[in-house]
Amino acid sequence: MWSGLKQTDIVVQAIMAENVRSVRGMNDRLPEEMASFQAIAEHCRKVFSRRNYKELQTPVVESTPLFSRGIGEATDIVEKEMYTFPDRKGRSLTLRPEMTASCARAYIQHGIFKSRPFSEWFYIAPMFRYERMQTGRYRQFWQAGVEVFGDRAPTLDAEVASVLYEVFSGLGVTDLTMLVNSVGDKEDRVIYREKLLQYLTPFSSQLCGDCQRRINTNPLRVLDCKVPSCKEIAAAAPALADSLRDESKQYFHDTCNALQVVGVPYKIDKQCVRGLDYYTGPVFELVSTSKALGKQTTLGAGGRYDGLVQQLGGPSTPAVGFALGMERAMLVSDMIAAETAPSLFIATLGTAAKVHGLALASKLADTNVSVSVEHRDVKLKAQLRRAAKNGFTWALVLGDNEIESGKANLKNLDTKQETEIELARLADNLNR
Ligand code: HAM
Repeated sequence: MWSGLKQTDIVVQAIMAENVRSVRGMNDRLPEEMASFQAIAEHCRKVFSRRNYKELQTPVVESTPLFSRGIGEATDIVEKEMYTFPDRKGRSLTLRPEMTASCARAYIQHGIFKSRPFSEWFYIAPMFRYERMQTGRYRQFWQAGVEVFGDRAPTLDAEVASVLYEVFSGLGVTDLTMLVNSVGDKEDRVIYREKLLQYLTPFSSQLCGDCQRRINTNPLRVLDCKVPSCKEIAAAAPALADSLRDESKQYFHDTCNALQVVGVPYKIDKQCVRGLDYYTGPVFELVSTSKALGKQTTLGAGGRYDGLVQQLGGPSTPAVGFALGMERAMLVSDMIAAETAPSLFIATLGTAAKVHGLALASKLADTNVSVSVEHRDVKLKAQLRRAAKNGFTWALVLGDNEIESGKANLKNLDTKQETEIELARLADNLNR
């Protein structure tokens, strides 16, 4: 079927065919970008591990009610943004749009609430949301996040928020502000709901269709609607923070004080209500004015969610956490990719040299040098061209003479310096 077509024609045909393109909003990360991604992921791991947080992984696919119950039926995420599909037996599954609900499920499912009720977890994992795409907003994106279960104290909320700040200040981002607010607990919200309804009802005909429905189901969600007319009405709504009970006010006040002592630049923002239903106290969003972010100015966000574990069937458990967007971190960070390992290209002349080259590569296994052996039967010049193009540190030329004499020329491709070395002592010569 392919006969008569040139290799390049096949490649072009394959690229043109719609069904072999990546899904809109879900992007490849090619090796050049991986270096920056890995450097940021490693940086996050270091910052989190320094606080003794432990890494976990959960499945990409979960059963849908985890999110509809956990995040909230009336939220944008659940109403409009989830990738939900039936499995072969008709059960509804969803590609996870976030990790907090999955972590709470794992905390309950594995009896962690009994074996290790105070647990500090972190994750670096891909999430999926069907959102309108723009710079910094994708349909598959990675989050690095932290979830701390089992304790409730304003200093802990401040610690978690300060870890988010530490990640970005450690990446060299300078224009950072932590927007903070309190969305109050269940009791606060019962009081607030009444006030909000009183305010919103006269405007109901001017709200978008979703918000007209939300007025009855969950009026708080009107406050984070993205439709301009709703935004305008929401801007003048009474603030939740103004109707907190004294206890919640005090908790928020103490959290802010701790943030100040730790040195996190924060600003109280009464409009910051977050788009997920599970929050029950202080919430925060770290924003940057970096132009690279376009309209997506939030680098990471989180807050306290003391009701989620119980809501998902576990015991009453306080919890607090955040997640940051890895792609947004890549946009703002000027962190240079982690230094790549020195690399050796073994140019080969003949089959014996290829085999010998493989044996040399195995011998270097316990060094930090990455090795590539030439397997093509092409001229030495073409081999060295490949070595230079692929950024190798050294090239070693192996032929029958070199194998016989046990000596070969090692060329440093940066300095162009060539040295004759003993093959048995190759590793000693690969120090930069
Ligand atoms: P979130 O605000 O939905 O919170 O997302 C947290 C961060 O993930 C955002 O600040 C942003 O950096 C990144 N992000 C979200 N959506 C996208 C997207 N479509 N494309 C690129 N990046 C995105 C949560 O997910 C909560 N689970 C955070 C949390 C953890 N709260 C408590 N614990």
